[in-house]
Amino acid sequence: MYPITAGLIVESKELWEELKQALAPHPIRLAFEASEIPQDWGPFIERIDRVQPDVILLEVTKLREPLDDVVKRLRATSSQPVIFALHTSAHPEAILTALRAGVSEYLYPPVAEPLHAALQRLSDSKEKAGKSTLRGGKIVAFLSAKGGCGATTIACHVAAEMARQNTGKILLADLDLQSGMVGFLMKTSPAYSLADAVNNLQRLDQSYWRGLISNGTPNLEIINAPTSPAAKQLPAGHVKQVVAFARTQYDWTILDLGRNVNPGTLSLLDMVDETYLVTTPEVPALHQAKQIIQVLLDAGYSRSHLRLLLNRTSKRIDVTFDELESMLGVPVFATVGNDFDALYEAFSAGRLVNESSGPGVDFARLASKIAGVAEQKKKRFSLFG
Ligand SMILES: Nc1ncnc2c1ncn2[C@@H]1O[C@H](COP(=O)(O)OP(=O)(O)OP(=O)(O)O)[C@@H](O)[C@H]1O
Ligand SMILES: [Mg+2]
Repeated sequence: MYPITAGLIVESKELWEELKQALAPHPIRLAFEASEIPQDWGPFIERIDRVQPDVILLEVTKLREPLDDVVKRLRATSSQPVIFALHTSAHPEAILTALRAGVSEYLYPPVAEPLHAALQRLSDSKEKAGKSTLRGGKIVAFLSAKGGCGATTIACHVAAEMARQNTGKILLADLDLQSGMVGFLMKTSPAYSLADAVNNLQRLDQSYWRGLISNGTPNLEIINAPTSPAAKQLPAGHVKQVVAFARTQYDWTILDLGRNVNPGTLSLLDMVDETYLVTTPEVPALHQAKQIIQVLLDAGYSRSHLRLLLNRTSKRIDVTFDELESMLGVPVFATVGNDFDALYEAFSAGRLVNESSGPGVDFARLASKIAGVAEQKKKRFSLFG
């Protein structure tokens, strides 16, 4: 299901309980909850404008103001949410009034099934409308063609470099649920992880999020992958919802997807603006890269959003970029030189590589290219000018 953000305005206690239960299995983020429309519309409208719901579930059983006025005012907020009317019963007259007022659905107990169908319809229409409806920044993902190609190393350095180059507010999210290493490389050890966001979608707002992330350098925040084995099985739809939320909070959301393309990874792809497939020039890695590209294309991911990163290159690489492109069907976006010692030394000292080292320069160049900014000129001393 495509991520949906909802707001609730429900007064009847039983309806409220029933609704909460019916919503629980869905990857819905609850942006606000209220028991009634407040007398003072001003702050209420401001709040709705801030949290940008896709849908407002509005109980109309004992509404104090005319329904068409209420619907008009809610629909006029900046995200133009659709309205689902809720009623404790199915009065034909109430249904007619609600539909005339412009609500999209009229729901009454038992709500679970019709609510599910209504959310599915909404999710389908959002999906059809495409990414253009998504608010917020860009999402880029790093995927390792084969274990150990360097996706995590590159994701961490690019995130740190983009932050350093002031390209906006950046989130580095470790979505490698099996062997997430971002926390280790970035030297963060927060008590919370992606699993807490996923398991508390109903509470996911700015202040809850603040408690989960750790701060890297200025402009850079990090959400770690869960470490406990029990927390590693996260429903793909819920992870997607967290990423959709992140998109509204950051200019750049950088995902480390780990190796392997699984159903979870695939379901995320329609939100990912660019996927950087990290491979080395070795034949087994290139073979895997070719297979992954095919799987992504078969899943409907556009070739134009795919980028190839060639990591650990050295002078004696036998194939040309043109040959690689015709073999893999995707051009080489950038290369990062092989420098095991520089990375080993940095990681042993608990830091990222130095900006002026060989890979440091490559990471900086890559970060600028991804962010689409002109590379910052660095004062560097060179014997050869
Ligand atoms: N450009 C490079 N030069 C030398 N060594 C590198 C380079 N990039 C990464 N490495 C090394 O390769 C190893 C694997 O890197 P990393 O963990 O980033 O790969 P990965 O693709 O994320 O692996 P996994 O599939 O386990 O997630 C690390 O020891 C890292 O230091
Ligand atoms: Mg990794």
